[in-house]
Amino acid sequence: MFRIAVMVSGGGTNLQAIIDAIESGVITDTEIAVVISNNEDAYALERAKKAGIKAVCVSRKEIPDRGEYNKALLSAVEEEKVDLVVLAGFLVVIPEEMIQKYRNRIINIHPSLIPSFCGTGYYGLKVHEGALARGVKVSGATVHFVDEGTDTGPIILQKAVEILDDDTPEVLQRRIMEQAEWKLLPEAINLLAHDKLEVVEGVVKRK
Ligand code: GRF
Repeated sequence: MFRIAVMVSGGGTNLQAIIDAIESGVITDTEIAVVISNNEDAYALERAKKAGIKAVCVSRKEIPDRGEYNKALLSAVEEEKVDLVVLAGFLVVIPEEMIQKYRNRIINIHPSLIPSFCGTGYYGLKVHEGALARGVKVSGATVHFVDEGTDTGPIILQKAVEILDDDTPEVLQRRIMEQAEWKLLPEAINLLAHDKLEVVEGVVKRK
């Protein structure tokens, strides 16, 4: 079994998409070993519990020291001996030590077509506000490996989504989730679970 940890901060619709994809057989030979949240109120934790998945909170409030917090986060992941860490709306910067130890074994979903509308400051609705303000006609989502930068790691999958004239950031966010994020993230996990990808000079290729 390919073991994954899913790290969350909020509603957890992407987590739900992974749970559903495992149940329906879109993702095979894979189990969610643990769901880790930085936020005890994250609805994602409820989703995990409902699905019978171990859910833990490594709370920033309880561990104010950044170094201690990073250690706690890393041990929560290491304890589970996972093959892959999936960031599904996780709003905490990943400790550098974890990035090094899990090189090309941490993936993130970002709700735009990287390299547009990404990097520092582009999170949540700000991504979609940026796209609408610039007037682009397509946006989308990207699954990428996590490296030391913000949204700079090798790109695994992307899917374009049309922007409509009367879109609000909220409407666009929802369409990108439905049409792109909830499909792309399970697809990427399944490819990795079956060892179908390799990174060659910073570029992801199918094996
Ligand atoms: C998604 O838009 C994802 O792209 C971004 O954070 C949001 C998480 O939503 N990284 P949810 O918690 O999965 O519903």
